[in-house]
Amino acid sequence: MIITIANQKGGSGKSTLCLNLATKFLLQNQEIVVLDTDVQKSIETFVNIRLDKNIKCFTLFNRTGNITDTIKQIIPKFQNIIIDTKGEDSIESRKAMLISDLLIIPSTPSQLDIAVLTKMFERVSEIQSINENLRACILMNKIPPVPYLREKQAMREFILENKKSLNIDLLESIISERISLKRCVSEGLSIIEYADEKAKKEFNEFYQEICDKFFRITKNAIFKNQIN
Ligand SMILES: Nc1ncnc2c1ncn2[C@@H]1O[C@H](COP(=O)(O)OP(=O)(O)OP(=O)(O)O)[C@@H](O)[C@H]1O
Ligand SMILES: [Mg+2]
Repeated sequence: MIITIANQKGGSGKSTLCLNLATKFLLQNQEIVVLDTDVQKSIETFVNIRLDKNIKCFTLFNRTGNITDTIKQIIPKFQNIIIDTKGEDSIESRKAMLISDLLIIPSTPSQLDIAVLTKMFERVSEIQSINENLRACILMNKIPPVPYLREKQAMREFILENKKSLNIDLLESIISERISLKRCVSEGLSIIEYADEKAKKEFNEFYQEICDKFFRITKNAIFKNQIN
């Protein structure tokens, strides 16, 4: 199973989502590799803190450029790969999508981020015309935790209206804007290892939703669901 996390909009929460999802798989006893294709190497900081504290961690590769060769080398050893990409339309993100089973697009409820989503829709449509196996979903991230948020509703409506016939799911689950999502990273912990029950529950709901929709997880492997 190859999962790419991408959004041309910088700062939408790709790397945060990537390290949390990879650690979740790890805690499910899955062998997992993260391929960070961003020169910022954000995930490396998290991995180093974890290793310094002797906490088990996923395997990390930092690669830019022709990542297809790297992925082909990784696949025989590690079946499950999560690819983090940079916040722009890069060669790496296109290559990653071309070779992936699932694309997760974290997006935040601001007008600027929403505008970039239309570009992502075009990109996904283009990639899916070549990689027919690519499933895609949008995760609403950094949602301020207030009972009614106009921007959240506006974002949902915009996505549903503009994705039209595209094969992209809008996830029901959301990730709120929480300081614990920043703090846990600086302690080398994923959100599900951190003492914030609400944040943990929310992340687990997201995880459950993508499991139900896109893959099947067994003791030894993660298998993608067949497209109906
Ligand atoms: N749900 C959240 N709640 C609060 N802060 C968040 C959340 N998700 C991400 N962040 C914070 O937002 C900032 C950007 O997140 P992150 O680096 O994951 O984004 P990115 O999409 O990988 O950025 P880039 O495009 O630069 O690679 C970080 O400071 C991170 O801690
Ligand atoms: Mg990043």
